[in-house]
Amino acid sequence: MAKIIVVTSGKGGVGKTTSSAAISSGLALRGHKTAVIDFDIGLRNLDIVMNCERRVVYDFVNVINGDATLRQALIKDKRVDNLYILPASQTRDKDALSMDGVERVLKELADDGFEYIICDSPAGIEHGAFMALYFADTAIVVANPEVSSVRDSDRILGILQSKSRRAENGERVEEYLLLTRYNPERAAKGEMLAVEDVEEILATKLLGVIPESETVLKASNQGIPVIHDDQSTAGQAYSDAVARLLGEEVEQRFIHAEQKGLFKRLFGRTA
Ligand SMILES: Nc1ncnc2c1ncn2[C@@H]1O[C@H](COP(=O)(O)OP(=O)(O)O)[C@@H](O)[C@H]1O
Ligand SMILES: [Mg+2]
Repeated sequence: MAKIIVVTSGKGGVGKTTSSAAISSGLALRGHKTAVIDFDIGLRNLDIVMNCERRVVYDFVNVINGDATLRQALIKDKRVDNLYILPASQTRDKDALSMDGVERVLKELADDGFEYIICDSPAGIEHGAFMALYFADTAIVVANPEVSSVRDSDRILGILQSKSRRAENGERVEEYLLLTRYNPERAAKGEMLAVEDVEEILATKLLGVIPESETVLKASNQGIPVIHDDQSTAGQAYSDAVARLLGEEVEQRFIHAEQKGLFKRLFGRTA
């Protein structure tokens, strides 16, 4: 049985695509056959972050419209076995994703033996975001440690538990919070919300805390999901998050400001 996981948020630009790329890569690295679908119609960021934009021939909407088969549109990742990307369409028609069409593609992926289907959602609560979350079994709500981002996450959690298919069937969508772009030093100074504040406001299981790190931007410019960089704190934090998603108990790291001793200052990596 395939597990459908939506990576969503209220606000845009919080790290959904970065997280979708990292988590889908991480699941595939752990041996699970995984597909990641870009629901951000018109934007197409995921294929760039995953360095396959030059290999896009057909896209999600082509498959929905029957202009291409799923097999023709899926792009096999060059770095990890078991990982396939279904790119977003460049169409301006935001309503191109029909409910029937999305359901058909998800079902075909499940029938093809995919274990995890990661849906990279556009921001907000418009049509594309709704399509991305409607069929989800699990939601990863991405938030930054800012009041506006946390407030919008609360709204998306409400929608998940009322408007999704599971909600319509009287079931719950399993929900996780992924806090990204976290800077423990700034949180300690009160310049951004601390992990505990966010957990208290949202009362949602914490999948992980991804530190703010310049290796993320570098990785996405190179088209290498940051989880492949096991020297970077962000890469390590994503690996931990994937382990938790797989049900492992992994202690949270990167949530407290480090006291930097002389040794660390001389030899430690900062990001
Ligand atoms: N942990 C992080 N540290 C630093 N920059 C990050 C981090 N996560 C995401 N970013 C940057 O934030 C921007 C938005 O990320 P993206 O994943 O595209 O967000 P979304 O898909 O939610 O719009 C990108 O420039 C990305 O490189
Ligand atoms: Mg995005």
